[in-house]
Amino acid sequence: MKVVEPQRFRAVMGHFATGVTVVTASGPDGPVGMTANAVASLSLDPLLALVCFDNAARTLRVVREQRRFGINVLAAGQEDLARLFASKTPEAEKFAGVQHTVHEGIPVIEGTIAWVGCTLEQLIPGGDHTIGIGAVIAAERATERDPLIWYRGEYR
Ligand SMILES: Cc1cc2nc3c(=O)[nH]c(=O)nc-3n(C[C@H](O)[C@H](O)[C@H](O)COP(=O)(O)O)c2cc1C
Repeated sequence: MKVVEPQRFRAVMGHFATGVTVVTASGPDGPVGMTANAVASLSLDPLLALVCFDNAARTLRVVREQRRFGINVLAAGQEDLARLFASKTPEAEKFAGVQHTVHEGIPVIEGTIAWVGCTLEQLIPGGDHTIGIGAVIAAERATERDPLIWYRGEYR
């Protein structure tokens, strides 16, 4: 059987258009966050959501310790935020200049279209990623705007 190269898998899966979120947590040194599209609602009874964390993501370390995370759904026009939170800018600097509030220990970014707050239930290994399953403790629609989309390696 022909082996599928990782780059090919990534490029093929890139045809699955997704929204773009910033997954946030409150660390001992302040809020942290990372851009994520491997995010899904998992269960309605009980209410569960999941995020797939790269094992190298600094945000995973904070979520593992603090056991809470937020999923902030970005609006069209928020590419700058997506790029910032996808970068390896020092964790403490990512939130400098980013308007946000903290809801039950979960950073909520202003100007997004929706957000969900979770308490961590389980971390499940998945290759070079870790699946974080959270119990949903808050879910809010914010501004009525079009979503930011990630498709074939580009923001749309
Ligand atoms: C569109 C897009 C989607 C991404 N989705 C994920 C994801 O679902 N999970 C993940 O761990 N990293 C994802 N990343 C990569 C992280 O944002 C990136 O590794 C970031 O530097 C992690 O930040 P941190 O180390 O401060 O946690 C994505 C990046 C982009 C541009």
